[in-house]
Amino acid sequence: MQQIAIFASGAGSNARQIIRHFRNHPTVRISLIVCNKPGAGVLQIAEDEKIPTLMLEKDPFFRGDGYVGSLRKAGIDFIVLAGFLWKIPDTLIKAYPGKIVNIHPALLPKYGGKGMYGAHVHESVIAAGEKESGITIHFVDEYYDHGQPIFQSAVSIEPTDTPETLAAKIHLLEHKYYPVVIEEILNKPNKG
Ligand code: GRF
Repeated sequence: MQQIAIFASGAGSNARQIIRHFRNHPTVRISLIVCNKPGAGVLQIAEDEKIPTLMLEKDPFFRGDGYVGSLRKAGIDFIVLAGFLWKIPDTLIKAYPGKIVNIHPALLPKYGGKGMYGAHVHESVIAAGEKESGITIHFVDEYYDHGQPIFQSAVSIEPTDTPETLAAKIHLLEHKYYPVVIEEILNKPNKG
């Protein structure tokens, strides 16, 4: 059984889709929801789905072991970031090489990096007069939104689009593709 931890800081709509996708899956289990924001919507989803949660404190995360000990104890094999707003510390990246993925609501390498999350991304894309945007699923390395890309899907931007309407289109892409791409990565024989 491959055990996934989903890291999230917000509403958790991606986490919910991933949980639904892997419900009753023969070889993959969502074993833990990891969160850094008390009261985040994702915690209610975890409770509804009866999935254990792990709340992160800044100091042990950035200056300690990055919770590697807790994740190992929970039997976690793979980490999925779904709207997790802290940068992943090197301790965690080294403990899970090629085993951490993230989804970014734009077509990287443009519109990525520190501070580029949520509405900021869509506002920048529209302000720049882009004709399309989309999602990027990528492996996580020690730089924000920088690791090896795995999958991208684009959506056209209409003149009438606002950051809100674009965000809604992007969320549809995320919910459609993130669970499937995760499953494909887990099904690949481990090259490492
Ligand atoms: C998504 O837009 C995702 O691309 C970004 O953070 C957002 C998370 O949304 N990384 P939710 O909490 O899954 O609804």
